[in-house]
Amino acid sequence: MPDPACDLLVVGAGAAGLTAALTAAEQGARVLILTKGHAPDSSSWHAQGGIAGAVGDDDTAALHAVDTERAGRELCRPSAVKVLTEEGPERVRELIAMGVPFDPELSLEGGHSRRRVSSVEGAATGWAVTSLLGRMAARMDQISTREATNALALWTDGGRCLGVVTPDGPIAARATILAMGGAAALWARSTNPEGQIGDGIAIAFAAGAAVADLEFMQFHPTVLAGSRLLLTEALRGDGATLLDDKGERFVDELAPRDEVARAMVRKGRVWLDLRQVDRARFPGLMIEIEKAGFDPATQPIPVSPAAHYTIGGVVTDLVGRTDIPGLFAAGETAATGVHGANRLASNSLLECLVFGRRAALAALDEPAIPTRPEMPLAPPPERRASQELRDQVWREAGVMRDPADLAHLALSQDVVAQLVARFAVARWESRGVHYRIDAPTTDPAFEGHFVLRPGQELTLERWS
Ligand code: FAD
Ligand code: SIN
Repeated sequence: MPDPACDLLVVGAGAAGLTAALTAAEQGARVLILTKGHAPDSSSWHAQGGIAGAVGDDDTAALHAVDTERAGRELCRPSAVKVLTEEGPERVRELIAMGVPFDPELSLEGGHSRRRVSSVEGAATGWAVTSLLGRMAARMDQISTREATNALALWTDGGRCLGVVTPDGPIAARATILAMGGAAALWARSTNPEGQIGDGIAIAFAAGAAVADLEFMQFHPTVLAGSRLLLTEALRGDGATLLDDKGERFVDELAPRDEVARAMVRKGRVWLDLRQVDRARFPGLMIEIEKAGFDPATQPIPVSPAAHYTIGGVVTDLVGRTDIPGLFAAGETAATGVHGANRLASNSLLECLVFGRRAALAALDEPAIPTRPEMPLAPPPERRASQELRDQVWREAGVMRDPADLAHLALSQDVVAQLVARFAVARWESRGVHYRIDAPTTDPAFEGHFVLRPGQELTLERWS
């Protein structure tokens, strides 16, 4: 008989997982956090520009919603956008009350009609927020954390999720929240930590959960060439320009990032010119650039796009519930539909705070687990991504997509690579971050979310 050591099992220790854990613990729940690596292995730790949220005097949730929907290209789920933008300011104010030392000025990023992004030292927001939430979780008696513990599969019985299976055995909980981040490190050129290869999508799909929107991988335009180092969009908000090999500007640097990324790919070699920027606003980032061998005060920096954010994921409602009773998802693992076909800059940390909290509150309503459940089967081996696979995904499902490449990738042995390709093949149009060279325009017939349930065909759904 399982004796759940916890009410809530949270898989992942990024912004979404930590928010969920702290919210549940504040309600008196016993929480266990599992993470495959250590704190700096989450994308949250590395987040730079900040957290969007209508906290400025000239701003409203409605204006933030308009910008979010415009970036999302007719595909944002309106109810999710309303939740994100209306609850967002309160979550940002809570961080201020917890002691996050936000910069006095709000930042501007692509696609925003206002300065709306709260940052710490310009580009150290993820570290400041995630390390603070981590310290708070470590201080709470009701929260325990197991690092270096890989969730290999979900434990289900009679269609209900009872927890996860790790290499050390199963772990039971009344409710499980997958906050396992995204899959962008499956692409050879990526901003994400190496382990972010979509394990949450893989284990939820294997257990029968629906997944959606996996054709939408967001590429960040300005990543130091030959490296994972992101050069935050806030630099462009502060006047950094993109130059071609003649030293000329060629794109509106603050257009939504899918447009900027494609313009850069068309150009070939591109440089980010930081000479006009108040570089003292981004002290840590300037040191990183110098460490990489460039002097941002005197020379433009070579940049090119890299896979950055997984818009699709495990389908949830607005409180993180998946198709599987007892199983929730939040943060980058979840597909709420809030980002449509292109995420607005800095809406992701906000998503982690807003939907991480909602998922935790809903998860606490789950009933006790059965006293004599079916024990799980031996787990599958750990999913790994070889360099060859990462190269293939980059080549065959990159910024500009060729149908023959996608058809080839759909034969991949890796479940997430295969799913990405199947979704991208089905979306025979270009919309937001998904661009097909054989169908370069948007087709109203595809105004919906592709959803896949195990053993079924892809369906196109409209989400209100
Ligand atoms: P993550 O923070 O990625 O955490 C995932 C967790 O799951 C990790 O603890 C990981 O170890 C764990 N995990 C994964 N697989 C397993 C497994 N099998 N078993 C156990 N644990 C597992 N967004 C913004 O809004 N603003 C920004 O300024 C910004 N800047 C960014 C800069 C960079 C360089 C990057 C990479 C992303 C940035 N983003 C930004 C995006 C944003 O940071 C992420 O979308 C967000 O932090 C994701 O948070 P999360 O909690 O969902 O997942
Ligand atoms: C950045 O700082 O440019 C990243 C912001 C984001 O991914 O939202």
